[in-house]
Amino acid sequence: MSELIAPAAVGYAEEHTSPLGGPVASAAAWTEDNTSSPGMMSGLAEARLLEALIVVGGARNVLEIGTFTGVGALTMAAALPEGGTVTTLEVNPDTAAAARRHIESSAHGSRVKLIVGDALESIAELEGPFDLVYIDAWKADYPAYYDAVMPKLAERGVIVADNLFRSGSALEATDPDEGTVGIRTFASRVQNDARVNNVLLTIGDGVMLAWRRPQGE
Ligand SMILES: C[S@@+](CC[C@H](N)C(=O)[O-])C[C@H]1O[C@@H](n2cnc3c(N)ncnc32)[C@H](O)[C@@H]1O
Repeated sequence: MSELIAPAAVGYAEEHTSPLGGPVASAAAWTEDNTSSPGMMSGLAEARLLEALIVVGGARNVLEIGTFTGVGALTMAAALPEGGTVTTLEVNPDTAAAARRHIESSAHGSRVKLIVGDALESIAELEGPFDLVYIDAWKADYPAYYDAVMPKLAERGVIVADNLFRSGSALEATDPDEGTVGIRTFASRVQNDARVNNVLLTIGDGVMLAWRRPQGE
């Protein structure tokens, strides 16, 4: 969790956000205990935000770029209506195997399609249209993910991208790290894209939402 926001505010917000439950909570606990980077999994605020966007927007066809251990995928799967699908992309076969175990032990696992391989190659094979795309994989590739998914975004779809603050480094214009450069390039590409409106939310590590600009605006 980024400390860019006052810790007291973050704590208060978490106290007033529904805690994770069921298989998602089990997957999150497993991730805390068994991975070297549990901070990679989506936090509580991101998870509940994704769920809310799916419920409010009536999303049925969801794409997640970056599965890790399956916390985001399972959160979104639980929020889908009957017949809805989360396609989730993961390059690391070990984390994909852990995700698969969590997916298979969930009542909503049949709604999740896990594809192992490089996300950009996988996206090229997918048709869409996607009602929600969650970008949460290799930070240097965020601009390429955006370019690849925009043509596959449903008319009323939304893109959600995590880690826009990159723990604060994205606020430093001169940081040479390729991930930070990727995030900053993504943020300005979205901001300057006349096809979309967007908002950068100061929750978690910074979450960008982008959707097609309403006609006539
Ligand atoms: C931040 S984690 C994803 C967290 C997950 N979305 C969640 O909700 O818990 C990023 C994941 O992206 C994967 N990844 C990195 N580069 C990738 C690539 N080129 N293609 C697909 N997945 C990739 C990593 O292996 C890692 O598991």
